[in-house]
Amino acid sequence: MADYDVIVIGAGPGGYVCAIRCAQLGLKTACVEARDTLGGTCLNIGCIPSKALLHASHALHEAEHNFAKMGLKGAAPKVDWKGMLAYKDDVIGQNTKGIEFLFKKNKVDWIKGFGSIPAAGQVKVGDTIHNAKSIIIASGSTPSTLPGIEVDEKIVVTSEGALGLGKVPKKMVVIGAGVIGLELGSVYARLGAEVEVIEYLDTITPGMDREVAKNFQKILSKQGLKFTLGAAVQGVKTTKNNATVSYKLKKDDSGHQVVTDVVLVATGRKPYTEGLGLDALGVEMSERGQIITDGHWQTNIKGVYAIGDCIVGPMLAHKAEDEGMAVAEVVAGKHGHVNYGVIPGVVYTNPEVSSVGATEEMLKTEGRAYKVGKFSFMGNGRAKANFAADGFVKILADKETDRILGAHIIGPAAGDLIHEVCVAMEFGASAQDLALTCHAHPTFSEAVREAALACGDGAIHA
Ligand code: NAI
Repeated sequence: MADYDVIVIGAGPGGYVCAIRCAQLGLKTACVEARDTLGGTCLNIGCIPSKALLHASHALHEAEHNFAKMGLKGAAPKVDWKGMLAYKDDVIGQNTKGIEFLFKKNKVDWIKGFGSIPAAGQVKVGDTIHNAKSIIIASGSTPSTLPGIEVDEKIVVTSEGALGLGKVPKKMVVIGAGVIGLELGSVYARLGAEVEVIEYLDTITPGMDREVAKNFQKILSKQGLKFTLGAAVQGVKTTKNNATVSYKLKKDDSGHQVVTDVVLVATGRKPYTEGLGLDALGVEMSERGQIITDGHWQTNIKGVYAIGDCIVGPMLAHKAEDEGMAVAEVVAGKHGHVNYGVIPGVVYTNPEVSSVGATEEMLKTEGRAYKVGKFSFMGNGRAKANFAADGFVKILADKETDRILGAHIIGPAAGDLIHEVCVAMEFGASAQDLALTCHAHPTFSEAVREAALACGDGAIHA
């Protein structure tokens, strides 16, 4: 008899959510995690700690720039870096302990240690072999750095080191203008560092709707971030106290160097599957090191499943969570489903940027007839009151049927606003459906409705 119905390997957002759902569905479940705390990269060294620092640095920005405008007088607070890191660690602690509590409540066993799969139906942790009818790999991802760059997590750091620097640097070079580079770059810019972002492509945030990305770059530049685009980083040399980053500009092949206190390497992440024994087991992998799964997240080995960052698709915590819940349904003999067409993406800078569905560039490539409804937060009373009128909502709808195909928001609370469009898309709504839905006044969400109105007879406040 198997020890467990299901063993999940990894307790990040994909794995822990999956384990809890399996247990809720009546399966005897264990989750293997080697870290001292549950929650994976996201809770321990990723999404959650970075959001704490984004929140604290934004509060400082508000005090420095907007308090006096609201008649709030007094000196702006000074940064107590140790205090800020302690606040961040406290937030991590509350969240990781919360998952431990949820495991106990749902009767999920936490097997502490590093798991590997010696054979289908077996998970080895230390010297013990645990048997399971189904094994779900949720082992996540790790930063992928560049050749010629040695990360010491002190001077040359990945997102992990950037969340615990000894002090706020005077100068920081960020390699890569993706989500991590811009989120953490803007934290340090707000805390007083001079931040230069070096990006290989001619645009920031590749994949994002171009119009939004351009606007985003303008806003971040106004906040003091410097962008060097079309630049291929060649290498980084470190001394005891600083680093020199060498790069070549693609337009004329000229070589350049920049000296900095800290280098943040944010050039993407790669699936983390080392040590699982997948080679010996014969699990099929892609050229990019992703575990290949079928439509039910099963690998080519029967009873071995995989979800989250270690498989194909966007490396997003919420995508992993959805897959975790869906695969739990599958192994419980029910029907699990993820709608990959409606997965929101959010950049937690200030303003936030969010998106769902198609970009204009995608629709053009597909040759699809579409219309654009746009509304600037300048026309939104609440945003004006909050000094948050930079940005806009853009809704893309089918030209004939009016069905919503995508939405892109840059502005206040964009990461929350996007979800009403997600729900609308899940229900196959038209832009008019959104436009005819009463939105409370005064809220940021009125800007979403106005953009929907702009897909039809026109916005009111534009
Ligand atoms: P990314 O893939 O978003 O961006 C990496 C950037 O580095 C690209 O723009 C690329 O062109 C550039 N680059 C690559 N090689 C370069 C070179 N030699 N010189 C200059 N630039 C170079 O990767 P990032 O930001 O590291 O994030 C990794 C993953 O984590 C992504 O999948 C992201 O979606 C996910 N993530 C998501 C978050 C969110 O949803 N808010 C937060 C943090 C991470």
